[in-house]
Amino acid sequence: MDANLRAWTEYGRFHLNRSTNPPEPKHMAWGFWDSGPGDEVLGDLAGCRVLDIGSGTGRYAAHLARTHSAVIDAVDGSPTQHQRALARYGETEPGVHFILADILEHLHQDEEPYDVVYALHSLGFIDPHQLLPALAPRIRPGGRLVFSVLHTNREGLGPSTTVRPRPENVRLGNEGMLSTAPPCGSSPLPCGRTCSSRPGSSSRTSPFYRRLKKMTRWSASSSPHTGPPG
Ligand SMILES: C[S@@+](CC[C@H](N)C(=O)[O-])C[C@H]1O[C@@H](n2cnc3c(N)ncnc32)[C@H](O)[C@@H]1O
Repeated sequence: MDANLRAWTEYGRFHLNRSTNPPEPKHMAWGFWDSGPGDEVLGDLAGCRVLDIGSGTGRYAAHLARTHSAVIDAVDGSPTQHQRALARYGETEPGVHFILADILEHLHQDEEPYDVVYALHSLGFIDPHQLLPALAPRIRPGGRLVFSVLHTNREGLGPSTTVRPRPENVRLGNEGMLSTAPPCGSSPLPCGRTCSSRPGSSSRTSPFYRRLKKMTRWSASSSPHTGPPG
C-alpha cells in the first residue's frame, strides 16, 4: 500500500473509532464546501453502469443509486474507508457494489466498460499518468468522465504547475494531520525538489510544509472557499 492509501487507512480508522458519519447528501457536492453544480452534470444515469473512484463512505454512490436508479461500482483502496461504507450501507445497498481495491488494480481487470465514471475529491491523490490510460478503455465510447479536484487546498496552496498528484494533508479532527506524501526521496515534488519530511508526519510546522510555503506564491483570490471546511 502506498503512502496515499496508508494515510486514508489511518483516516478511516480514526473515524471508525469515533463512528463519525457525515450526513446523507441531498445532491453531489463537487466543490469543497457545498459549492459547484449538482447531480445534473452526470447526465441521465437511469440504468447506467457507473464507477465511483475513491468512494470513501459511499454516501454519494448510495445517493445516486437511490435517486437516479444508477448501478454503481463504488471503489475505494483504503480498507477502513471501505469498512465505513459497509458499516453505513451494508453489502446489500440496492444498486451499489462496494469494492475494496486500488483503482488502478480495479481498472486493469477485464470487465465491460462503464457508461459514466466520476470522482469526487479523490483524483488528486492518484497519479494521472497511470490512471487516465487505465481509465480510457474502461469508459464506453460516448461515455462520460466527471470529476472535481483540489484547486486551492485548505492550506491556501494554489494549483500545481505540473499534472501529477501532490502531497496533501488529511486532517484528523482536532488531533493533527496525516500526509499523503510519498516516502521521502522517492519522488520529486511538483516543483521538482524532493520531500525532506518523514512520511506520514507532515503538518503546518513540518519542514516540508514550510518549504512549500516559501516556494509558493499565496493568493487569497484563488481560494474557492464558500464556507467553513467540512
Ligand atoms: C477525499 S476522500 C473522498 C471520498 C468520497 N469521494 C467523498 O467525496 O465523500 C478520497 C478517497 O479516495 C480514496 N483513494 C485515494 N487513492 C485511491 C486509490 N488509488 N484507489 C482507490 N481509492 C483511493 C481514499 O481512500 C479516500 O476514501
